[in-house]
Amino acid sequence: MSFEVSAESYARFMGKYSEPLAVQFVEQADLRAGQRALDVGCGPGALTEQLVQRLGAASVAAVDPSEPFVAAARARFPEVDLQSAVAERLPLPDDSFDAALAQLVVHFMTDAVAGLREMARVVRPGGVMATCVWDHGGGKGPLSTFWQAARDLDPDAPDEANLAGAREGHLAQLAEAAGWHDIQPTSLTVKANFASFEDWWEPYTLGVGPAGAYVAQLDDDQRNTLRTRCAQKLPDAPFELAASAWSVRGRA
Ligand SMILES: C[S@@+](CC[C@H](N)C(=O)[O-])C[C@H]1O[C@@H](n2cnc3c(N)ncnc32)[C@H](O)[C@@H]1O
Repeated sequence: MSFEVSAESYARFMGKYSEPLAVQFVEQADLRAGQRALDVGCGPGALTEQLVQRLGAASVAAVDPSEPFVAAARARFPEVDLQSAVAERLPLPDDSFDAALAQLVVHFMTDAVAGLREMARVVRPGGVMATCVWDHGGGKGPLSTFWQAARDLDPDAPDEANLAGAREGHLAQLAEAAGWHDIQPTSLTVKANFASFEDWWEPYTLGVGPAGAYVAQLDDDQRNTLRTRCAQKLPDAPFELAASAWSVRGRA
């Protein structure tokens, strides 16, 4: 599984995007002091940090199936209730949170509707659920240049455009199928800066997520050809890239 990697590798691969995204995404939940929130698929804790800042560690719980990520998040937030679990089977009681959020997770769930239904189950009636996924379908995600280059060279490259929630309107459809009420779709955009092409490329060699797994199975010649193709598609360094995510908020 491509998230059985170190928290440091994930931070280098996705942290430049997921950390600023979490700052915007957490606002979807309208959290107030005294409330309890759950971070579903917390990874090393980009969103967990935002929840802890707003509510305090004792009012935050988080789950993720990746053992290295759970270990890293536990070390970072020792007072947060952190469990190794998937969204589709949350080991948590009904109506036990005011909010449940899942940042960049739905497209990796085995059964997205089941995962979103579980989020609604653990949130009290009237409480908030929110989720977001990069706009891989519209070519505006942080990995879009990489996947375009990969598909230029290999039309069968498995880009992430068809994953759950990664195209316009699909997250809302999934949320409706999961029984969420008052569904409100929106989109969020973040920017990341790169000092050099190598600063951009090196994280792809760390084996993180589907893109890292794709690079890892290439031979040296194929990897160098892909690297060159990516460099041709990017602006001269230093450069800034924008990345957009589809987001939905709903109520239990
Ligand atoms: C792209 S990372 C996002 C991590 C974090 N939420 C963030 O925004 O940085 C995707 C995460 O989803 C987790 N994941 C994969 N399948 C999952 C599932 N079925 N239920 C919950 N989390 C899952 C992975 O282990 C990984 O930590």
